[in-house]
Amino acid sequence: MDKADKGLTVEAKKCINIGLLGLGTVGSGVVQLLTANQDHIAQRAGLNLKVKKALVRDINRARQVDTSLVSLTTEPNDILADPDIQVVVEVMGGQEPALSYIMEALSQGKHVVTANKDLLATHGKELFAAAKEAGVDLYFEASVGGGIPIIRPLKDCLAGNNIKKVYGIVNGTTNYILTKMEQGDTYEAALKEAQAKGFAEADPSSDVMGLDAARKIAILASISFGARVIEDDVSCVGIQDLEPLDLAYAKELGYKVKLLALAQEVNGALEVRVHPCLVPEQHPLASVDGVLNAIAVQGDAVGEVMFYGQGAGQMPTASAVVGDLIEVAHNIVSGVKGRNGCTCFTTKPLCPPAKAEASYFVRLEVQDKPGVMAKVATAFGNAGVSLWSVIQKRQTEQGAEIVIVTHPALGQSFEQALSVLQSYPEIFNIHQPMIVEGVEAYVAGVN
Ligand SMILES: NC(=O)c1ccc[n+]([C@@H]2O[C@H](COP(=O)([O-])OP(=O)(O)OC[C@H]3O[C@@H](n4cnc5c(N)ncnc54)[C@H](OP(=O)(O)O)[C@@H]3O)[C@@H](O)[C@H]2O)c1
Repeated sequence: MDKADKGLTVEAKKCINIGLLGLGTVGSGVVQLLTANQDHIAQRAGLNLKVKKALVRDINRARQVDTSLVSLTTEPNDILADPDIQVVVEVMGGQEPALSYIMEALSQGKHVVTANKDLLATHGKELFAAAKEAGVDLYFEASVGGGIPIIRPLKDCLAGNNIKKVYGIVNGTTNYILTKMEQGDTYEAALKEAQAKGFAEADPSSDVMGLDAARKIAILASISFGARVIEDDVSCVGIQDLEPLDLAYAKELGYKVKLLALAQEVNGALEVRVHPCLVPEQHPLASVDGVLNAIAVQGDAVGEVMFYGQGAGQMPTASAVVGDLIEVAHNIVSGVKGRNGCTCFTTKPLCPPAKAEASYFVRLEVQDKPGVMAKVATAFGNAGVSLWSVIQKRQTEQGAEIVIVTHPALGQSFEQALSVLQSYPEIFNIHQPMIVEGVEAYVAGVN
């Protein structure tokens, strides 16, 4: 605390007025947390943080917070044009009108805190440019990993490192579904249960198809590698075509199946993808189950660090938003502006999946007759893909099942082998391939 502040009560200090755009799950959590921990937060922030107004769609809707403390409005300008509101918290979600409202808030000289990954993964560049021009702060810790601190650790604590790789489980819905499928549930049953428990939306497509994870890894990649990555740059495969059998076979091989979001630099290019992956059982990510999230970061100085916790939910997400508000308050108190500016200082080419190397797991349903295994092995061999393991599994009604794990191979070589296999009448079905993380390390470990 400054000498000048000594002896002053918190009440005697200035107050920062906050305007909330949205008072749903996260917005209500922010009000609850600011109220419950008011004194503690004021001490940390150096200022009182007060929610003055909240924008909603339906003013008559029942709220999870005491609305006598917050004035509700359906008119955005009541907040955006209010000169007493210094900080706008955008927790309404979606693209528009959230984007226009944030741009207007920034142009009015208001600091902005947002939890909106959809916006940042598509319009990050213009948002940061607008914040810079206005000389204000734009914070977004809650946009990735909910309550898990990852944005500021990457921007600040790990800033001295060359980041090699950032990867992890960034979507709780899919992790919950995979955890249930591991226990034998079908995809459909696991999804239904996730919806019943409130872990999945009525329309789960953005989660199960990997789009939510793609937005998050686009944000993490942009910060980690100092080059703008947007949602459309992310190669994305979801979990909707997986079957419990895939997870059971993975388990037999010593792996768990996780939807991993990953960004890494390969020969100066960025490989950024979301894909169902086999993770060795010994890896810390393998034990991240249910709705929990975890993100691992590899830096040249720090080695590997991992961040683990609740990747969504009302109070964890409110925790991240309020942490950002305290940071904004610090900046206001110290007269510093634009401290959380854009960190995309350069551009980097993308490494498309075809040019990236990975080990693959794939399950084939084949005719059970002599020579089929040899044809499969030849198709991979001709494409330049060497096989780490080929196991003939159970008999099926039509024939047999073969489970293949490859050594690291170019994506285009693997696809070439699959397209040859597709043309063979003896191959009935090629199931969703998965990427095997750390197969080389695992092989070395067991040998
Ligand atoms: N929920 C989580 O666990 C979580 C975690 C991390 C990040 N986030 C992000 O946080 C943001 C908010 O999520 P949420 O779960 O709190 O959403 P939510 O419960 O649906 O709340 C959205 C709020 O915004 C208001 N709103 C939406 N569109 C509006 C419009 N056009 N005009 C005025 N008000 C509007 C709604 O008003 P009404 O109440 O009147 O309908 C509601 O109060 C999203 O960007 C989300 O991705 C959420």
